[in-house]
Amino acid sequence: MAALIEEGSVKILLKSLHEYRGPGRRGTGFYNPTLEIDRDLTVAFCAHAAREGAYTFLDGLAATGIRGIRIAKEVGENLEVDINERKPESYELVKKNIALNEVKARALNHDLRTLLQQKKYDYIDIDPYGSPVPFLPYLFRALKKRTYLTVTATDTATLCGVWRRTCIRKYQAIPLKGETSKEAGLRILTGYIARQAAGEGYGFTPLLAYTRSHFFRVYGMMKRGVKAAEESLSHVGWIYWDDGWRTSPFQHFLGEPRAGPLWIGPLHDEAVLYDIQQEVETRKLKKKEELMKLLQYFHEEAHLPPLYYESSSIAKECRTSQPKMATILAELKDRGYEAGTCHFSPDAFKTDAPYEIITSLFG
Ligand SMILES: C[S@@+](CC[C@H](N)C(=O)[O-])C[C@H]1O[C@@H](n2cnc3c(N)ncnc32)[C@H](O)[C@@H]1O
Repeated sequence: MAALIEEGSVKILLKSLHEYRGPGRRGTGFYNPTLEIDRDLTVAFCAHAAREGAYTFLDGLAATGIRGIRIAKEVGENLEVDINERKPESYELVKKNIALNEVKARALNHDLRTLLQQKKYDYIDIDPYGSPVPFLPYLFRALKKRTYLTVTATDTATLCGVWRRTCIRKYQAIPLKGETSKEAGLRILTGYIARQAAGEGYGFTPLLAYTRSHFFRVYGMMKRGVKAAEESLSHVGWIYWDDGWRTSPFQHFLGEPRAGPLWIGPLHDEAVLYDIQQEVETRKLKKKEELMKLLQYFHEEAHLPPLYYESSSIAKECRTSQPKMATILAELKDRGYEAGTCHFSPDAFKTDAPYEIITSLFG
């Protein structure tokens, strides 16, 4: 039975609420209500992009059209927003939802790979079921000198090393299973986009990248030019273990690679984060507090080293109980190391301290 939901400042018609909600369901007009906070973030990011001069926006894999319709309604009435969906029944729903919200947006019914050969955009959103890999080769003709790109991947089991051979085949990268695998997976995805971009003469820089529930999402900037490509490739390398998690450049291994190639540079841009935070502050959002907390985590991570440790695993390894997170961080900082929490797990912390120092806190 058809249903009407409200999210942000839009109303969205669904074919059926119960049949299509949640990950793993692939029906007409797919809608996952748990992703509201992520679409709130998309709106805040697009508002930032619009302030920086972005004008043409593409919601490339639309389902109900909710993401594109929220951009059209909540970012700015004067933008040019294209909302594309290949499945005919879903495309019909996108058209109805555009009319229902009276927004200035265009519904398109193309295979995204074809559409990307026809028009250039300032912002492109690729939000597929599963891996974005099949879409990336088609992306480059749709890029301007500078284009904001957002990519989702829901094949987290692959990127986190559960399906190691699939990761090697799809992303040409060795994943890490278990410890720090979520961040390694996010960095494999980011590094893969940067490597594809470099081959096409573009540099890719992540501006904000994270994981939540069943997906990874990377917001970034594609910049045309060999210099930009080389600059971003200089942030692609390997993970190895020495006296803790360490990273190594792509060209010369510093240790035995445990995972990679992957992105070893920053995952967030602090100035962009700050702008987005200000934007979220001013908006009326149901899940504002949760989103602000997530953004606060990103701020903390932005100046900490790549990869994390989980206190529950260390406690298990040391056969002892877990100290309080605040105690671990204070002790590390007292000894002169960088230390902080991160969004990957409530149990996770980042530090540049050697592992023997870390374990000594679990006595
Ligand atoms: C995960 S859903 C998108 C969810 C939506 N962005 C949101 O925020 O709710 C992916 C959508 O992409 C559509 N799709 C899959 N392959 C496509 C292609 N090659 N071109 C255009 N649309 C495609 C599917 O029909 C599906 O509706």
